[in-house]
Amino acid sequence: MIESIHTKEDLAERKTPPTIIVIFGASGDLTARKLVPAIFNLSKDNLLPNKCFLIGYGRSSMSDEVFKDELKLALKSFSRREIHELQWNQLEKNIFFHAGPYDDLSSFNKLEEKITSLEKGISSKAQCLFYISTPPGVFKPILENLGESGLARRNRGTNTASKVIIEKPFGHDLESAHELNLVINKRFDESQVFRIDHYLGKETVQSLLVQRFANSIFEPVWNRNYVSSVQITVSEDLGVGTRGGYYDRSGALRDMIQNHVMQLLALTAMEPPSSLNPESIRDEKVKALKALKPLAIYGENPEVVRASYAAGLVGGKPAKAYLDEEGIPEDSFTETYAALRLYLDNWRWKGVPFYLRSGKRLAMKASEIVVQFTRPPAILFGQDSRFRVSPNLLVIRIQPNEGVTLYLNSKTPGLETKLQPIKLEFGYETTFGSDTPEAYERLILDALNGDGTLFIRGDEAETSWGLLTPVLEHWASQRSHGLESYASGTWGPLEADKLLLESGHEWITGKSYD
Ligand code: BG6
Repeated sequence: MIESIHTKEDLAERKTPPTIIVIFGASGDLTARKLVPAIFNLSKDNLLPNKCFLIGYGRSSMSDEVFKDELKLALKSFSRREIHELQWNQLEKNIFFHAGPYDDLSSFNKLEEKITSLEKGISSKAQCLFYISTPPGVFKPILENLGESGLARRNRGTNTASKVIIEKPFGHDLESAHELNLVINKRFDESQVFRIDHYLGKETVQSLLVQRFANSIFEPVWNRNYVSSVQITVSEDLGVGTRGGYYDRSGALRDMIQNHVMQLLALTAMEPPSSLNPESIRDEKVKALKALKPLAIYGENPEVVRASYAAGLVGGKPAKAYLDEEGIPEDSFTETYAALRLYLDNWRWKGVPFYLRSGKRLAMKASEIVVQFTRPPAILFGQDSRFRVSPNLLVIRIQPNEGVTLYLNSKTPGLETKLQPIKLEFGYETTFGSDTPEAYERLILDALNGDGTLFIRGDEAETSWGLLTPVLEHWASQRSHGLESYASGTWGPLEADKLLLESGHEWITGKSYD
């Protein structure tokens, strides 16, 4: 059974077999910005197998040389570390381009021939890692052709079995996610499948499990007896930019909440796993997601809010309204902001609200989990505002300024007794320096080694879609009715504040406690 990788020694022992990485969507933006820099940085750290090849698969024909030039340029612009000529020369010998349509079996048969000839060249079997980084419309033909051509079942049952990484979006709703799972499961074992959510590759997200389960002070209070609410904010100051075409068919609930934010929720709410093997962890995440109660969508007090950004000022600069962005139809009712109040129907969390929100063109970029604890049971310090006891907060900053802050109450110095919240602060950069690997480095490395811990299992994706699909259907039926508006550069619509007010809470992220 695969255990999660923790040290370089683990990796050395694991002896990743010779590998051929095939990227579908090789001339796309993600390949240039994230995938190739991640592969290069892994190679720089000697974390790739000695024999490792990269084949870019794309629709437009291109010579190997032109492809290599493009990759070199991408590395110069996007790699977190500099590329030295010597290292590039090592890499580029093993880079190739394969042009062909995604729905043409003969092109996949040719790819298979190329792979076999590379294997012959090294006189050894190699595992294939297929990275599907195309628009979702062609996921299905690619998966089908990987099956038909025999590439999916190559070397199955050995340590060089093929693996497939699938980019998001994984489906559009419950039905399409289920169909996609059927297409995958017909051709691949679940152990060969890696559904990506790049948030799981972020250092701080991985560290959440360590914080929870390697420190005994948190677990005893991590429940309904001591926690009054949990808030998860994933906000962005940017608008949709040039991605209007994609975004307008998606919206905040599909683009961010269904995957990234729900994953943060699952990691925060799950029970301790019995071991660190991927299935134990993913079983616990699924259990937490399954415990979520269906959302109240209709009526006086819905637990969901959606809104779209109007013009405003972001960082002092004018920003246009969503409807004025490039590629957005004038009658669009896509939400660029979504907020939800959720409850888990289980022993640990019954009655504790989990507030989630995510949006574009908000006041700042910030991803945070805030655990708000209950107030002390007895009021020893009086009702006077000088003695006000603020609730303890544990703020886990996923990005930027990664770190953890614990807010406690303290007496201010002086002869009178006056209380003030103070912070115990931990910053990743201050403690560990800034040379942190990017999420895609960790995820590609794990997939190469067959470790699915930081990837979404099929049932996990469907559980999350199952909860949100009724909301999406309701919103689609209501069109712009009920779609709120917020000025760019603010924290979203007032309706989202009301979601919390009923229980006496307020959004913490963005509020100053200093
Ligand atoms: C992607 C979304 O998954 O995550 C984008 O499609 C979003 O819309 C991005 O901007 C945010 O990622 P990060 O790592 O910058 O927080």
